[in-house]
Amino acid sequence: METAAESLVETDGPDSPRVAVVTGAGSGIGRAVAVELLAAGWSVALAGRRLETLEETAALAPLKEGAPLCVRTDVTSPEDVAALFGAVRERFGRLDLLFNNAGTFGPGGVPVEELPYDAWRHVVDTNLNGAFLCAQAAFRQMKEQDPRGGRIINNGSIAAHAPRPNSVAYTATKHALTGLTKSLSLDGRPYRIAVGQIDIGNAATDMTERMQSGILQANGELASEPVMDVADVARTVRHMAELPLEANVQFATVLATNMPYIGRG
Ligand SMILES: NC(=O)c1ccc[n+]([C@@H]2O[C@H](COP(=O)([O-])OP(=O)(O)OC[C@H]3O[C@@H](n4cnc5c(N)ncnc54)[C@H](OP(=O)(O)O)[C@@H]3O)[C@@H](O)[C@H]2O)c1
Repeated sequence: METAAESLVETDGPDSPRVAVVTGAGSGIGRAVAVELLAAGWSVALAGRRLETLEETAALAPLKEGAPLCVRTDVTSPEDVAALFGAVRERFGRLDLLFNNAGTFGPGGVPVEELPYDAWRHVVDTNLNGAFLCAQAAFRQMKEQDPRGGRIINNGSIAAHAPRPNSVAYTATKHALTGLTKSLSLDGRPYRIAVGQIDIGNAATDMTERMQSGILQANGELASEPVMDVADVARTVRHMAELPLEANVQFATVLATNMPYIGRG
């Protein structure tokens, strides 16, 4: 005879125990998503390179399922990533969601012919290699755990569809994330691992401050662009996260309604 607790674990409903890792949780979109999940009763591990900002995020959230786990993590380091997922396993025993969010724009505005190789590598290491390492660790955990499965949401960008001028490293890595999402999504099928991607345009964070002050357009002009509230991104990610594993938002594009993209400017 199954106990009430066991029957809960086997459900995908809102009362199931749900454990998430959010990378880049100390600011911007990662912070907003972490707070949104914590407020909805998720157990959350917050990862990023600065413990202080992770602790600030933790302090913003109402306590429902106990204090979030803050783990100083550089996603470009295989050792750090292994330690993060080991700590999650030790504290929570399983993993239901990875929000693969840590990222950098790199040195924006530098023409391709002047971009130092180190700068290129830093962006590739953070946005692509870091996302791969975290997804691989999540995949291993989700495949082995009982009940099996989980969800990975990669944070792409409008740059996964169309570049801004002088953004070769950022744009190339965000296009590559789409390949990562598709491949993991296919490889996750046998293990009940759902993989999707959110492509965001102009959420108001530190990264997009210059959108409002004036940013280079394809026609060479500087223009300020509309931004949207980061809370609207967080609600979208929570919706994707809380679907049953039999349903998946494969790609979601969420952008400031009037930003230049759909009209080719
Ligand atoms: N804001 C937008 O409109 C927008 C649009 C499209 C895509 N995105 C994507 O959304 C994600 C978050 O961006 P944001 O706008 O919230 O900007 P942000 O505030 O600059 O967030 C970036 C986060 O990534 C973390 N991070 C950077 N390098 C890291 C590393 N090596 N290891 C671990 N964490 C690292 C940073 O924390 P630490 O410095 O403490 O490590 C920071 O918390 C990025 O992937 C970005 O490309 C944003």
